[in-house]
Amino acid sequence: MKRKAINFERLSDLLYMKNVSLNINYQEFDNEQELAEEDRILLSMARAAAGNAYAPYSRFWVGAAVRLANEVVVTGNNQENAAYPSGMCAERVALYAASARYPGIPVLTIAITAKSASFKVDYPIPPCGACRQVMAEYETSGPGSTRVILSGEKGKVLIFNEISSLLPFMFSKKEMNH
Ligand code: THU
Repeated sequence: MKRKAINFERLSDLLYMKNVSLNINYQEFDNEQELAEEDRILLSMARAAAGNAYAPYSRFWVGAAVRLANEVVVTGNNQENAAYPSGMCAERVALYAASARYPGIPVLTIAITAKSASFKVDYPIPPCGACRQVMAEYETSGPGSTRVILSGEKGKVLIFNEISSLLPFMFSKKEMNH
């Protein structure tokens, strides 16, 4: 009789592994009118920035507004290029401009929004992975956490109180100091 081969790798998985789950907390608002005034203003600045985006290829206009600990707000928007990969997301344009102009000043909050030429963006726009990584960099170089406000043109608004909520298991400078 032919025996079925045992897969030892899987067997040790079953013996030693633990299923672990992650809990992510964030706040959800039905619309931007429900936000605290300071956040509503930041979001309106991100919206204004989206209107100035240079996005002739995607016609998807993204705006970001960064509130710094010195109370300055720096905005940015996506900048596209005929050589597509040379373009840059709104979040990184805003964060890099903030760090260039106000080096070392902690980023308290970043508000992000978007609109499109072809459909209504009626959901909170999630930032891309590279932008999350850049948010993580500035958060971990400061003393506190960075809040993230996500919205579309209308509808729900989400608030995350720290970047790890958007980028669990993030790689940061701490990994190199163990
Ligand atoms: N985009 C951003 O500006 N931020 C994001 O987080 C996602 C995508 C831009 C890049 C490109 O100009 C357009 O949206 C479509 O991907």
